[in-house]
Amino acid sequence: MKNRSLLKIFAVLVIVIIVLTGCQTEHTNKSQAETTIQAASTHTNQTVASTVTATESKKPQIPHEDTSEDKKEPQWQAPAVPGLTRGVNLGNALEAPMEGSWGVVLQEEYFKVIKDAGFDFVRIPIKFSGYASLSSPYTLDEDFLKRIDWAADQAVSNGLRVILDLHNYEEFMQNPDGEKERFIAIWKQIAKRYRKYPDELFFELLNEPTNAVPSDIWNSILADTIKAIRKTNPKRQIIVGPVSWNSIPELQNLRLPEEDRNLIATFHYYNPFEFTHQGAGWVAGSDAWLGTPWVGSSTDKARVRSDLDTAAEWAVKNNRPILMGEFGAYSSIIMEYRERWTRFVAREAEKRNMAWSYWEFCSGFGVYNKAENAYRPELLRALIPDSKLVK
Ligand code: GLC
Repeated sequence: MKNRSLLKIFAVLVIVIIVLTGCQTEHTNKSQAETTIQAASTHTNQTVASTVTATESKKPQIPHEDTSEDKKEPQWQAPAVPGLTRGVNLGNALEAPMEGSWGVVLQEEYFKVIKDAGFDFVRIPIKFSGYASLSSPYTLDEDFLKRIDWAADQAVSNGLRVILDLHNYEEFMQNPDGEKERFIAIWKQIAKRYRKYPDELFFELLNEPTNAVPSDIWNSILADTIKAIRKTNPKRQIIVGPVSWNSIPELQNLRLPEEDRNLIATFHYYNPFEFTHQGAGWVAGSDAWLGTPWVGSSTDKARVRSDLDTAAEWAVKNNRPILMGEFGAYSSIIMEYRERWTRFVAREAEKRNMAWSYWEFCSGFGVYNKAENAYRPELLRALIPDSKLVK
């Protein structure tokens, strides 16, 4: 009993010290990001509601959400995405420099628990470029490919569809023309290896070509890469997104080979960025955004609707299915706001007939708490309201 009281006093002292020093923990990379979540969320609560003091455990005042227009039907409904509805990104694992270096090693049970929650697919970000030799023929490392086989097999045998997403090819972003040959060579090897896999397996050409990749160059490289993949996978679904980090405004500059009808367009959605990425260690200056709320006012919601309308209108006019391949709000945000934003964005995407995959499973944005082997119920409910794993 005495020990417990001492412990309590100690805990309060620690919190007071953290608050007094302003919690200015610098996150320098993603592997550190997770460990600083606790400190960051203390800071967030402080900024949002100045009435909360370190010793009080009262919740901050959360303004009401405006739900008056939530039933409104959107003007545009995209063509359905074949086979994909609600998914999750297995992020921070295979796209890290080495699996595990960003804190996540894929586990067999993740695939089951993802299926059980009601997701129907996983997007697996993979740093293929880190495992390909630097000169022709740019051979991919066999052990690494075996690990990818394992992940793909786990997904399919658990009844999930799976996207192999080529992620974090930094050299390409600096010099797309110079890396083109290597990029296509990498894809030829992936395509050959998975040519006999069932239709449940999808390819995604390149995660988030940055704004340093001009859209005309990207359009020409994507066309040549698709042509190379089609030699071994004539019908496989291939996912392709626009430049500027797969942003919605750049969809209008994306040119997909017209005659190929097994292509799915994709975009990523993190607006307002100051809200979703507050306190994110890999985004310079994002500590200054800590405390940014997303109340779900009619103005907040109008912005999301208008962004998603732009994407859906593009999909309708170009007759392409479209996937919101990443969206999410970081763990330094207080849960009420994360939940509201996540739920609203997911539902609005669904109304427009878009598939989505949440960023991400069990790391800094995680819907799943791997330390506790349990979903964060607020986020899972936001994503899949009828999930049998949340009541
Ligand atoms: C992009 C990045 C990923 C990051 C995410 C959210 O997918 O590639 O590393 O975590 O966006 O910022």
